[in-house]
Amino acid sequence: MKIYDQKKSKELLDRAKKVIPGSPLNPEGGIYGHYSGSVSATGNPVFFSRSEGSRFWDVDGNEYIDYMCAYGPMILGYNHPAVDEAAREQYKKGNTVSLAAPVMIDLAEELVDMVTIADWAFFAKNGADPTNLSVMVARAATGRKKVIVFEGFYHGSSPWMQAAGSPGTIEEDTAHIIQVTWNDYGQLERTVDENDGEIACLISSPYHHPIVMDNEMPADGFWQKVEALCKKKGIVLVVDDVRAGFRADLAGSNEYFGFKPDLICFGKAMANGYPISALVGTDALREAMSSVFFTGTQFFNAAPMAAALATLRELKKIDAPKIMLETGKKIMDGLVSIAGDYGYDLRVSGLPSMPFLRITNQDPPVLTEGLPGLHTGLHADWISECVQRGAYFLDYHNHFISTAHNDEDAQRTWDIAEDAFKAVKKKYGDQFQK
Ligand SMILES: Cc1ncc(COP(=O)(O)O)c(C=O)c1O
Repeated sequence: MKIYDQKKSKELLDRAKKVIPGSPLNPEGGIYGHYSGSVSATGNPVFFSRSEGSRFWDVDGNEYIDYMCAYGPMILGYNHPAVDEAAREQYKKGNTVSLAAPVMIDLAEELVDMVTIADWAFFAKNGADPTNLSVMVARAATGRKKVIVFEGFYHGSSPWMQAAGSPGTIEEDTAHIIQVTWNDYGQLERTVDENDGEIACLISSPYHHPIVMDNEMPADGFWQKVEALCKKKGIVLVVDDVRAGFRADLAGSNEYFGFKPDLICFGKAMANGYPISALVGTDALREAMSSVFFTGTQFFNAAPMAAALATLRELKKIDAPKIMLETGKKIMDGLVSIAGDYGYDLRVSGLPSMPFLRITNQDPPVLTEGLPGLHTGLHADWISECVQRGAYFLDYHNHFISTAHNDEDAQRTWDIAEDAFKAVKKKYGDQFQK
């Protein structure tokens, strides 16, 4: 099997380093933010030349089956005709104009119709917009300051969402953020009691999808107890569905887990890659929502709204979550079985449509010094061998399945995975064998 070369990506990265800063994961620069973690891994491409369906091509012409889906936004396949056509039509009529476009109402009606708890919808750009706004709405509604989150959470990159002490933040940013352990209801209840009458909201993803660690589903009855506690104590329950949204249940991932929050944040996949996010909520919070001032120059872009409307309609038409859950399970089951043939235990956690992978033979993974959250060793090496053969996985982050991933992708991925297992077996021999 051909091993990819990324000569042009490396040349472009050298150029980029001179004019574009980096991040804690890529201090040398050229790429920042969530794309920066992949830069330091051996054999990873950095720049793309084109994309289509479930695949993208890097600037060196190498083809990849994309299991990151742009970190979530791509859900129907790149360049989806109906979505792109809807956006193009709206671009022709106008995108950023001095008035709102009627498509904004169509989109709000679609979301209110689709998402069980939604009585209204507010549109923004990135996922951190609705997560920030949800906390403001909760504080406006309750007159309280404190916010409960689960350890290992990610709700965006605003200062209050970062680990205390992160460069550029001050201690006041996180002064009212209380972290509790995922699935530990007893600890949550104690925390609420200790801060009685002071908690504005609890914000959480619908299941636990931290980086590096196995993802964790809610324990039986966990969400139902959390919902009841929040109701009893007047705490606003916010689901951050920015990452999992539309890959579990179109009515909100909370429906998949059988509970009802007060607010839900959507982003990433809602327009198949066009920039838009949304906060939806119940009538009980409509007044608090209207009391908060929150906006942005680009919030009324009409073309992404048209793209979102087309995306949501297509997702509904084809029952997309069912397709992605089944496809993800099929591809992952195949990978686990191939891993077993080579003496490796590949653990798959999280939703099958958003699988996190980890070879457990070397446990825990070896963290890379100086690059927080990144690791090296057996699992990272296997991922890297897969990437260099055309399956774009990431070692420290959950993956994403789209409705464009098909049987041909599955077979190609299994072939690549097998070759990659042979490569790591050659490197490590019987070390770590179970
Ligand atoms: C669960 C979750 N919430 C919020 C965000 C922030 O979204 P954005 O990066 O679009 O601001 C992300 C982004 O990865 C996320 O995964």
